[in-house]
Amino acid sequence: MFEILNGDLETYTGDSLFVGLYDHPRNFSEGQLKKLDDLFQGELMNLAKDQALSGRLNKVTVLYTLGKLSVKKIIFVGLGKEKELTTEGFRETTGRAFKKVRPFKMANFAILLDSFISKTFDIDQVASLLSETFALAHYQYDGYKQKTNEPDIEVEKITFLTDTNTDQLNQLINAGFIYGQATNHARTLVNTPGNLLTATDLAEYARNLADKYDFEIEILEKEDLEKLGMGALLAVNQGSEQPPKMIVLKYQAKDEWTDVIGLVGKGITFDTGGYSLKPKDSIVGMKTDMGGAAAVLGAMEIIGELQPKQNVVAVIPSTDNMISGEALKPDDVITSLSGKTIEILNTDAEGRLVLADAVTYAKQHGANYLVDVATLTGGVIIALGNDKTGALSNDGALFDQFLQASKKTDEFVWRFPCTEKDKQRVRGSDVADLNNSPGREGHAIMAGTFIGEFAEDTPWVHLDIAGTSVTSKPTEIGPSGATGVMTRSLAQFVIDFQ
Ligand code: BES
Ligand code: ZN
Ligand code: ZN
Repeated sequence: MFEILNGDLETYTGDSLFVGLYDHPRNFSEGQLKKLDDLFQGELMNLAKDQALSGRLNKVTVLYTLGKLSVKKIIFVGLGKEKELTTEGFRETTGRAFKKVRPFKMANFAILLDSFISKTFDIDQVASLLSETFALAHYQYDGYKQKTNEPDIEVEKITFLTDTNTDQLNQLINAGFIYGQATNHARTLVNTPGNLLTATDLAEYARNLADKYDFEIEILEKEDLEKLGMGALLAVNQGSEQPPKMIVLKYQAKDEWTDVIGLVGKGITFDTGGYSLKPKDSIVGMKTDMGGAAAVLGAMEIIGELQPKQNVVAVIPSTDNMISGEALKPDDVITSLSGKTIEILNTDAEGRLVLADAVTYAKQHGANYLVDVATLTGGVIIALGNDKTGALSNDGALFDQFLQASKKTDEFVWRFPCTEKDKQRVRGSDVADLNNSPGREGHAIMAGTFIGEFAEDTPWVHLDIAGTSVTSKPTEIGPSGATGVMTRSLAQFVIDFQ
């Protein structure tokens, strides 16, 4: 898929060329851009002077070479002012450019790597950002439409043209691509309809990952859950025809099973709300209620590929949330794996129930640190919108580590408070230790606080991705639908963990 070519542009004979263009008056007066301009007898410089070719951030210009070069077209990617460029800006503008690959049917293209380098972005950073962004921006969910007459073009080869090859360049390009690809796999899981992705299917997917990367795997069946006393996951599954699964993957890269990072992902394959039934318009889209599970599986894929020296246990509680004569009801009291009893006030607050047992189980598997990811509340969308993930944590240092990772991946995370008063509200029940829905006020905080009751003293970060896991509009780095959010941040967090 990838190739690194040292040397001149003339030797490259693929379809098109991506060129980075900073907003700079001396654009074509030195380096690779100068060589390019020479091939056009100085015409590029003239275009730039006439403002017909601009390096403004997010400006993408397609130039047909009309036989002057072996490539048919050049796509100039505006990078803006060198000093002002951020990784987010870099991802967006290059993503916007890479979105042209499909409509232009580019099967082979090159990237003039050195043109993207600046004082703040070195070649290594630029290389991995480019391959990651290409994978993300190029993603498409095909779904189940009967094939049209026009076949999609497969990208066969991407050539990185550079004069300054480094030893690790190849590795970085691959790693970036793996980050993007794993995110795409998470996106596809989330986009898959609930009838075609049940808890059993999700378990099968995890089994395939385990086979591929040699993870230890445990899949608890309904009978196992009953034996172990996972009353919270079982309660949510009560109304369903589909059996529940507790999916566990273990990755051990240290000699001892110590410093174990637990990744816990909500795997509700469809959420009707149960007897606290969602209004009909809110039920649509609830196939995506396993976005947390998808992010954890995506992160495990990256971990399996890149083999960081860490210990990780991934725990995914999975079921759908349905209605029947057997289903869980408001007023019911259930007993979780931890022994804590829970009064059900709202069967639509099912995510925190399945996560309660999963968090306890992750601890039983030796997790010393916990990160849970879940499409948990509508409240987080009201609070933060669709581009920010809401967080809660009982440990400032751990949260800070996560925040650093999420800054690298440009997935915005904002921490909510979790006070003693919040805990009292979650503990407010006449008949049980906890209640699962203390009311609308601050309910993203309530949901997180509830999960914190099961994390107890274990350092823990909670991520509510209800707003970020799906987008109704295409972005520069992906189409509408699932975003695969937190796949990259979770993996980055694990890889950088200390
Ligand atoms: N799966 C939903 C949260 C959700 C809402 C995800 C919108 C994606 C988009 C969750 O299980 C839920 O129903 N939460 C309730 C909690 C309430 C009953 C306390 C909510 O947020 O309304
Ligand atoms: Zn719900
Ligand atoms: Zn839900």
